[in-house]
Amino acid sequence: MNGYVARDILTLVVIVIASFAISAFAGYASRGIAGAQSKLSPIDWLLSAPSDEERFRRLQQQLRGFDLTMWEVGERFRRMHEALARENYDLALYHWGRIKATINNGLVRRPGKTSNAQAFLLASNFDDIHAKIDARTPQSAWEGFNRAKLACQACHQAESVAFVNQQPLFDLSPPP
Ligand code: HEC
Repeated sequence: MNGYVARDILTLVVIVIASFAISAFAGYASRGIAGAQSKLSPIDWLLSAPSDEERFRRLQQQLRGFDLTMWEVGERFRRMHEALARENYDLALYHWGRIKATINNGLVRRPGKTSNAQAFLLASNFDDIHAKIDARTPQSAWEGFNRAKLACQACHQAESVAFVNQQPLFDLSPPP
């Protein structure tokens, strides 16, 4: 075998190995892409977005605004009333704490409501109402509840949604 033949064989071997490697990689890559696409279904409303910006826009829309915040606050306020009626002060205080956290989260989404939320509830009344419930006597706890109810309603008035106050939630009062 002369030097030329040996070199040609070596070249051939290198080409064969390289082409195997390229085709194996191409097959792997295309399976990867096709696999990712075929996994998407109509319920992949985030994964199927064309960009991260569109993904964030969709998330922001789904997280909603202050209405959802208030839906939870209203529900927890009703449960607070139930807890007080059973003299379960721990549960009432738990809901009162979650109400604050929920409103604060809502204010991140709707910062325009911060000044009224602070003025009517968070900065002014929140801690006093907490203390009244934490005194753990029916009289003091119901005073706290009534004060909270007035604060909620005053903010609705200030936010031009006074119609919100005309519903059974705000008829809740201490047991006779
Ligand atoms: C920033 C002042 C503010 C405070 C404080 C506040 N709310 Fe609201 N609430 C609103 C606004 C504004 C709406 C109307 C929702 C919207 O604009 O998206 C509302 C709506 C509601 C709704 C109707 C939600 C729905 O979609 O059915 C309920 C129930 C409610 N509030 C309960 C309460 C309770 C209970 C409290 C007190 C613990 C309270 N809110 C404190 C501003 C406030």
